[in-house]
Amino acid sequence: MKKKILVSRKYPEAGISLLREQGFDLTLWEKDRPMTPIELADLAKDHQALVCTLTDRIDRDFLEKCPHLDIISQFAVGYDNIDIAVATRLGIPVGYTPGAMTEATADIAFGLMIAVARKMFFMHKTIMAGQWGYFNPTGHLGMELTAKTLGIFGLGRIGFSLAKRCKAAYGMKILYHNRTRNTAAEQALGAVRVEFDKLLVQSDILSVHCALTPETKQIFNETAFRKMKPSAIFINTARGPIHHEGDLIQALGQGHIWGAGLDVTDPEPMKPDNPLLSMENACVLPHVGSATMEARNRMSVLAAMNIIQFYNTGKVPHIVNPEVLKP
Ligand code: GLV
Repeated sequence: MKKKILVSRKYPEAGISLLREQGFDLTLWEKDRPMTPIELADLAKDHQALVCTLTDRIDRDFLEKCPHLDIISQFAVGYDNIDIAVATRLGIPVGYTPGAMTEATADIAFGLMIAVARKMFFMHKTIMAGQWGYFNPTGHLGMELTAKTLGIFGLGRIGFSLAKRCKAAYGMKILYHNRTRNTAAEQALGAVRVEFDKLLVQSDILSVHCALTPETKQIFNETAFRKMKPSAIFINTARGPIHHEGDLIQALGQGHIWGAGLDVTDPEPMKPDNPLLSMENACVLPHVGSATMEARNRMSVLAAMNIIQFYNTGKVPHIVNPEVLKP
């Protein structure tokens, strides 16, 4: 019998057509919003596999309603929306799409860094508000990035890519804080692994590239921001809850740090009256790190291949919980 696959959003056709070519019976959720938890569980009950993404809540409640699922294939590199421990206990393999959005997300972090350093979003708003006055020799001054120190919190694929850009463009010194050493980055870029406190104290630009876990949740809070340089720029393109939003607003308002660039917020979507949106030294984007045609196509192909390989060979090429597949 044909396997039935529930596809939770409109994903790029590259991956969807791969699934179709394999003869799977696809149910596509065509609306522009994610399914509610009730809609998701009701539909998933009648399917053997699920393609989902970070806006789908794959929590204990969902998983215990759908323990029959053969595989869950996440269209994202992050999977904090999925209760991996419960999926593993139920024996459900969880695939994901690492590597596909590395360059796209590093570009967004790099772009935010420059945009914050030169107050670009705020300056754009002044034009729209009819406030483009005369050339002002002392107005709205930003800062240069050459020879600054970049601190990476969580130096994996995306952090490495950002560090390469910063080294090549600005000759930046690279510091990083990781649980394990990244010898490739040390050799290629002279990156230096430091304790968290040292990363806070020494970075001119501090960019977050770790996963959201209980250990990293709100690790960038008032205590952390107070240790940073008053001239520092904080960038988060990973997950919103890694910083404490109220503390960040306060740190910017009180000058504990100089600026912030966010592609992720908590909650998402951010409300239009959020104070960060009117701050001179803050730039916020609506979680578009992986939003290039190339990255999204690659993600859809990886998400499809995780399902196709699973049904054809019993192996999932990119799997979060490989232990469920061991004999
Ligand atoms: C996007 O946020 C992802 O995790 O891929």
